[in-house]
Amino acid sequence: MNRSTQVRVPRPRHYLMCRPTYFEVSYTINPWMDPTKPVDTRLAVLQWERLRSLHQQLGHRVELIDPLPGLPDMVYAANGATVVDGRVLGVRFRNAERAAEGPAYLEWFRARGYLGHDPVHVNEGEGDFLLTDTCLLAGQGFRSTPEGHAEAQEFLGRPVVGLELVDPRFYHLDTALTVLDGDEIMYYPEAFSPAARALLAELFPDAIRVSEADAQVFGLNAVSDGLHVVLPEAATGVMEKLRRRGFQPIGVDLSELLKGGGSAKCCTLEIRGR
Ligand code: ARG
Repeated sequence: MNRSTQVRVPRPRHYLMCRPTYFEVSYTINPWMDPTKPVDTRLAVLQWERLRSLHQQLGHRVELIDPLPGLPDMVYAANGATVVDGRVLGVRFRNAERAAEGPAYLEWFRARGYLGHDPVHVNEGEGDFLLTDTCLLAGQGFRSTPEGHAEAQEFLGRPVVGLELVDPRFYHLDTALTVLDGDEIMYYPEAFSPAARALLAELFPDAIRVSEADAQVFGLNAVSDGLHVVLPEAATGVMEKLRRRGFQPIGVDLSELLKGGGSAKCCTLEIRGR
């Protein structure tokens, strides 16, 4: 198929988000986090509100989970779970600072009647699990583990493809790779081990490859509905590549949340129903 002339069809999504009421950078668990750098929490909330209303304007349903004091990273809702066919795989964080977020997110889903699984092994939700039509791509190396991947495959019933991340700046899979639609992806090859790179090249021969400059501004931390791709406005190279493929990139400014090492995708958990 000729990707450039392909008609893109957006599909309405169901998202879960968490307002950054208590957002701050008070510890360092990834190279972006510098507690000595000031964070403007009010601006973080404002920028996040814009992202939320953008999702809504695009026709998506956005639900909210109450933020909890003392959990500044809870705004990164993508790390709250992985939801496939209405089944909710809870999370278990690598770092103690985020441990209490796992039960909070799982409780949100259970209270709404979802079947939830409290994981035994480390997995950081959609930060490291990205669903394509054929498989669940799974990051490892910094946060989620191969044992966590196996647990996901067992519970979610989708084949898991493990991908080794090697650059600490891109510590979660969703900082290095975006699923755009079906089995179409974009990624920054150098974030992956040689074996993972070879695997991606084989599985996704027509993927968009993104430059370091675009990856560095979190250009791959993007949310796609099949037509619109919401991503950091600084990722101009990615936007150009997306336009050529018939997607509509929409740039957002999430400067404050970037200081915690996250952007648009990190703030957006997709709830996939049955
Ligand atoms: N400070 C958070 C952490 O290091 C940022 C998480 C970003 N989320 C994501 N889905 N990549 O855990």
